[in-house]
Amino acid sequence: MRNCMFPCRGACRYPVLTLAVLLFFAYICSKASKTEQKPSMGEGFNVDPTRAKRVQTFVTEVLQRKCKRSSTRKNMSALFPDRYKTDIRPFLRKNDVLSKAVFRYPPPFGFQSMERKLKEVLGLFPEAVQEERSVKSCSRCVVVGSGGIMRGLQVGQLLNQFDVVIRLNNAPVSNFIEDIGNKTTIRMSYPEGSPKSWDDVDPKTLFVAVIYKTVDFNWLKAMIKRETVSLWDRLFFGRGAKEIPIGISQFRILNPEIISQTAVDLLQFSEPRWKFWGWDQNVPTLGVTATVLATYLCDEVSLVGFGYDLTQPEAPLHYYENRRMDAMKGETMHNVDAEKQLLAKLVKAGVITDLTGGIHCSFCEN
Ligand SMILES: *[C@@H]1O[C@H](CO)[C@@H](O)[C@H](O)[C@H]1NC(C)=O
Ligand SMILES: *[C@@H]1O[C@H](CO)[C@@H](O)[C@H](O)[C@H]1NC(C)=O
Repeated sequence: MRNCMFPCRGACRYPVLTLAVLLFFAYICSKASKTEQKPSMGEGFNVDPTRAKRVQTFVTEVLQRKCKRSSTRKNMSALFPDRYKTDIRPFLRKNDVLSKAVFRYPPPFGFQSMERKLKEVLGLFPEAVQEERSVKSCSRCVVVGSGGIMRGLQVGQLLNQFDVVIRLNNAPVSNFIEDIGNKTTIRMSYPEGSPKSWDDVDPKTLFVAVIYKTVDFNWLKAMIKRETVSLWDRLFFGRGAKEIPIGISQFRILNPEIISQTAVDLLQFSEPRWKFWGWDQNVPTLGVTATVLATYLCDEVSLVGFGYDLTQPEAPLHYYENRRMDAMKGETMHNVDAEKQLLAKLVKAGVITDLTGGIHCSFCEN
């Protein structure tokens, strides 16, 4: 219990500071619980049945096509010569010989000066078993975005037929199985974004931790060891998972080279540098990062639930809540326009497939 006590070491000598810190913590907690929303099916929004049918037909077609081995990686290399590295390992594993590239940048682009923390967490894992790439001769990934565009499409059964289903953050599953399926091969998240209560019904789900800052390692360590995150560390998170009820062998750490590949090489954002507070708008969203990860995991990559249809202001922003599209406020942390352009380029070139057409619709009538 020692490390979940009050953050008192040294701090008790400074009662005012301690009080301020505690008040700040209380504020964060109250904010977090206020903004929390119960996932529920949307009311007052009816999906166009013609559109739903068209999406179902398109997904069926994609699943019936012959899967082409390595096609996404080959296509990426052709489209981004010298910029797409074909040999990045998706996850960091125990006993891996870690390349210098892993430590080149500060987080989330790399683990600069964090070798010890990384080793400590990797040390908790059992011996790495199999290679991560699917044993099937050709595998298909689908990355499930949280867009309201998913609602009412009834493609859950179809999505379950992909070899690898990647879900992001706290996007819920259990009340939405008809639309988004119940298979979760990978749930990818970071402390603040992680689900408050775990609702993946798939017992084989891997949790892929994305490390954005140094303290995220402490959180991950606590999750793996099923310990309580220390109050002091919770100051940094405020919300997110308090526990992740899966086995140790189901945790993974995203190789930060995937993030630097996405940000620096593909999106060509400014070179990462250390900043104490805030980001240079050069941190890619989890959605685009997961898409790049998928190119390393699977032979073919599809997206669903990506993109916002701003011509439908009354449509739900996310499939699991009733906030409307027009509630979307300006993004400051991420450069969403650049990301949308990159994804549109990949879809138009046929490198990845957009199953719901929110990025670029190849099955829509003009
Ligand atoms: C993508 O790969 C497929 C099959 O490997 C190939 O036929 C197609 O020409 C490639 N497209 C691009 C844009 O490289
Ligand atoms: C998903 O749902 C189907 C049908 O309800 C069920 O048979 C299957 O076991 C479920 N899969 C998982 C991973 O829970």
